[in-house]
Amino acid sequence: MSREDRFDYLEALGALTAEEARYLKTGGLKDMGLAEKFVENVIGYFQVPLGVATNFVVDGRDLVIPMAVEETSIIAAASKTAKWVRENGTIRTESVGKQIIGQIQLAQVADFARFEKMVLAAKTELLRSVNRDVAHGLVARGGGVEDLQIRQIERPDGKTMAVIHVYADPCDAMGANIINQVCEYLKGPIEQMTGETVTMCILSNLVDSKLTRAIVELRGLDDELGLKIQEASLFAELDPYRAATNNKGVLNGIDPILIATGNDWRAVEAGVHAYAARSGQYRSITRWTYDDGILTGFFEAPIVVGTVGGVTKLHPTAQLCLNMLEIESAAELSRICAAVGLVQNLGALKALTTVGIIEGHMKLHIRNLTIGAGASEPEVPLVQKTTRRDFEDDQADQSAKCG
Ligand code: MEV
Repeated sequence: MSREDRFDYLEALGALTAEEARYLKTGGLKDMGLAEKFVENVIGYFQVPLGVATNFVVDGRDLVIPMAVEETSIIAAASKTAKWVRENGTIRTESVGKQIIGQIQLAQVADFARFEKMVLAAKTELLRSVNRDVAHGLVARGGGVEDLQIRQIERPDGKTMAVIHVYADPCDAMGANIINQVCEYLKGPIEQMTGETVTMCILSNLVDSKLTRAIVELRGLDDELGLKIQEASLFAELDPYRAATNNKGVLNGIDPILIATGNDWRAVEAGVHAYAARSGQYRSITRWTYDDGILTGFFEAPIVVGTVGGVTKLHPTAQLCLNMLEIESAAELSRICAAVGLVQNLGALKALTTVGIIEGHMKLHIRNLTIGAGASEPEVPLVQKTTRRDFEDDQADQSAKCG
């Protein structure tokens, strides 16, 4: 479709209002001063394209997925693979757990057993006071600080480090600011009560208490393809070198949604990679198995996002993208991210085990090369056509040479 037709189509679907379409058509920038509110020493904006991935049906719901990303072919691959799944299978998602984690470190405790006993004995009172004095807003929305756990870490010098894990339900916020405030508030009472010294307080991005799952089931593919995808998955499960690239491909589907909705993608990246290494070896965060004509894909990792707080509500494009997804909660947004990540992974594995990555990627990437070589807008299609033919001839030559 032309860009104009895309707007008409999205408006007809109800994914964009007329006003939102007008805003995007004029470049998607309402207020030049907005950047000053977000970061420091501002000198301008850096533009990243915003596209939509189509054909997604997640948990039975049709979705148009906003993706802000600079890499050619990600959106095309997501849409094409989603079409394959739409026609031959299902995508289901679920959330497991609600609590984010804050850490209070005491670098050296004199007597760990005594420390643990004292903190656990005071747990109810500590939770009551922090919920009253700091997290009352969360409590009013149905969340709040819910638990404390004590961890013992042996240091290389033989002394003992203690870490208090603070668990909180942040509702629809990502919760970074509130959990940091909670931990800093608890520092005083803990030091007074135990006589030990708190070294630092900060959230953890390894949020294994709030996981998101996606499951893809696909029927009707031939055995050869099903088994090849299973083998590619085993490669990523067993070999960290392959796992890193596999997981990068999964995040190709997730990061663009996080960026489009104004979420902290560095936090999600850190959490996903740490979770991928939880066994002591870095592994794939997806798994594909082929059995009895059915290919099943599984994704599980922390994807902690917010639909309130941060820049999500302040950035007009982030707000527009959230509206496009018609979601009710942050949990729903993380489930959509998981679904798109898993589908993106399927698209990559299918390409890698059949035609190879260059075929699809280069067809689209030729446009960038053409512009980079100095072609003007009207020249692009002509140069693209010639370049593609040369590229294909070159490929044919090389295959002939390789016998
Ligand atoms: C490229 O951006 C992503 C892939 O390398 C992912 C993968 O290898 O699975 C194609």
